[in-house]
Amino acid sequence: MNKKEISKAVINRLPRYYRYLGDLLEKDVVRISSKELSEKMKVTASQIRQDLNNFGGFGQQGYGYNVEYLYSEISKILGLDKKYNIIIIGAGNLGQALANYSDFERRGFFVKGIFDVNPRLIGLSIRGIEVRSTDELEQFIKENSIDIATLTVPKTKAPALASDLARWGIKGIWNFTPTDLQVPKDVTVENVHLAESLMKLSYKLAEKNELDQPENNSEEE
Ligand code: NAI
Repeated sequence: MNKKEISKAVINRLPRYYRYLGDLLEKDVVRISSKELSEKMKVTASQIRQDLNNFGGFGQQGYGYNVEYLYSEISKILGLDKKYNIIIIGAGNLGQALANYSDFERRGFFVKGIFDVNPRLIGLSIRGIEVRSTDELEQFIKENSIDIATLTVPKTKAPALASDLARWGIKGIWNFTPTDLQVPKDVTVENVHLAESLMKLSYKLAEKNELDQPENNSEEE
């Protein structure tokens, strides 16, 4: 099946499959049935079969899924068999926290540079990576084959930076700033908004609260 026809919902579930399979691999689990995987992931077994069938179905009747094979196939679908060079722009609270997180490398994302405009931060070393001036950005991107730029700058600075980055050849922007970016078609933006996730949590808590109310309460309203 053509990759383009696969629904966004399926693609959104793949990182979770990948994480679970990674945990199984660490425990030396060789194979797993869709039923067992479904119990672990709290997704129905038929959903799992349907999702994985989108990619040609990796399971075998009566055998289940070979964990290592499925893990490596999903990793290819997610593009994780490739290596990406990343830069972080904005070395404040969030930029430093991301730079300090070493696990991205295990997934193939390598932080090559960190940039800021603040002279007090320039020259600082974060996990062995020197914070550089944004004056060096264009040359650094070109010389170090940077694929992805992480934006952790104030939101007012993000639109101009995004268009500069696109001109300098960046193809992926991991945008943490609370603003929607306009970029050329060949640039992909992935927005990460923790506040939106909190709002979803708030909605779910409110929903649960409503469900937990004794029925006669609703009659009182
Ligand atoms: P911060 O103020 O600690 O860091 C921002 C850094 O950007 C500063 O070091 C500043 O000197 C630098 N900067 C300013 N203009 C720049 C430019 N043109 N080029 C390069 N660097 C520049 O702020 P914090 O808390 O780290 O937040 C950064 C951004 O992330 C903000 O837009 C904030 O709203 C957003 N944010 C997003 C979250 C999310 O869930 N997506 C969570 C927390 C913050």
